[in-house]
Amino acid sequence: MYRVSELAEQVGLSRSALLYYEKIGLVESKRLGNGYRTYSEHEFIDKVAPDAHLDWLIKQGFNEKEAFRLKWLSKDMNEHDLYMADFLRVFEALDRWGPGLETETLRALSKIPFSPKTIMEVGCGKGIATTVLAKHCAAKITAVDNDAPALNRLSERAKETGVDDRVTIVCASMTSLPFAAASFEVIWSEASAYIMGVTNAMKEWRGLLKDNGVLVISDLVWRTSSPSADVLAFWKKEYPGMTTTEERIEQAKAAGYEVLDSFALSEDAWKAYFEPLQARVNALKQEMADSSALRDIQTELGIYRRSLDEFGYQMFVLKLQLKTA
Ligand SMILES: C[S@@+](CC[C@H](N)C(=O)[O-])C[C@H]1O[C@@H](n2cnc3c(N)ncnc32)[C@H](O)[C@@H]1O
Repeated sequence: MYRVSELAEQVGLSRSALLYYEKIGLVESKRLGNGYRTYSEHEFIDKVAPDAHLDWLIKQGFNEKEAFRLKWLSKDMNEHDLYMADFLRVFEALDRWGPGLETETLRALSKIPFSPKTIMEVGCGKGIATTVLAKHCAAKITAVDNDAPALNRLSERAKETGVDDRVTIVCASMTSLPFAAASFEVIWSEASAYIMGVTNAMKEWRGLLKDNGVLVISDLVWRTSSPSADVLAFWKKEYPGMTTTEERIEQAKAAGYEVLDSFALSEDAWKAYFEPLQARVNALKQEMADSSALRDIQTELGIYRRSLDEFGYQMFVLKLQLKTA
């Protein structure tokens, strides 16, 4: 049996999400003499293991995108429509949805030991990295995201940059990519693999790579083994799968990749993401004074400002080892 906080930590959900599941009858707890709720391991495995949780959200009528977001945030689902709408309102005006810089995209590209002819970019958003890649290599790029408005912006951006003849846009989920095995020489994912879990992505996308193909992933990692309590609590809730660069490297090797390079994204890469976000929040603050989504984004921005030495984004350039070897 687990206490609610222990179980929440194990399955990567917030305490309030678990209590909510209990309220709607998805899991049951027993009260101990001291009043604490406890949950059995059986519940943990059968009912609230992370994948089951996602399936369950989808069965409740959330589309996959909302379900991912809810799983990620473990928010109060009674308010999910408003929360999602507010969240989208803040982000829709921004071009960049994750930390990164053109120079760092190019640094990763330069580590690929061949000139790629085919690249699939997953979670491309509005195409910030897509157009950089298209301008700097001759590859045909398949850009995938499940956000149609972002893909419309990407389409305009590709035309503006004159690379639209080499960019194919596909609206699909990263968890069920509609491509044949061994379709791409390179798979590129900036600030998006976390959505389905980085180890999961390394495993699932492997089959789409050609032999000796390269997977480029950027991900949020710990840079200290003793984070401040508030920072630890924040990321445990927001990104329970977050780990260190060293552990990601071990996981990549275990998934059959050789690490060609791994480097920390600069502070400027963070600023390129969060300064426009801060400006957007400031602009909406009065109008959205009661929005819990806006409050959450502000909390996140506060953590970035105070504690960027404790965590950061890391770029991984991984080469698939010969499948037949
Ligand atoms: C943090 S943003 C990063 C976007 C872009 N790479 C950038 O750096 O601006 C994550 C992206 O993943 C997309 N996304 C979320 N869930 C997805 C899914 N299940 N399948 C495909 N894309 C998804 C979002 O729409 C968003 O564009």
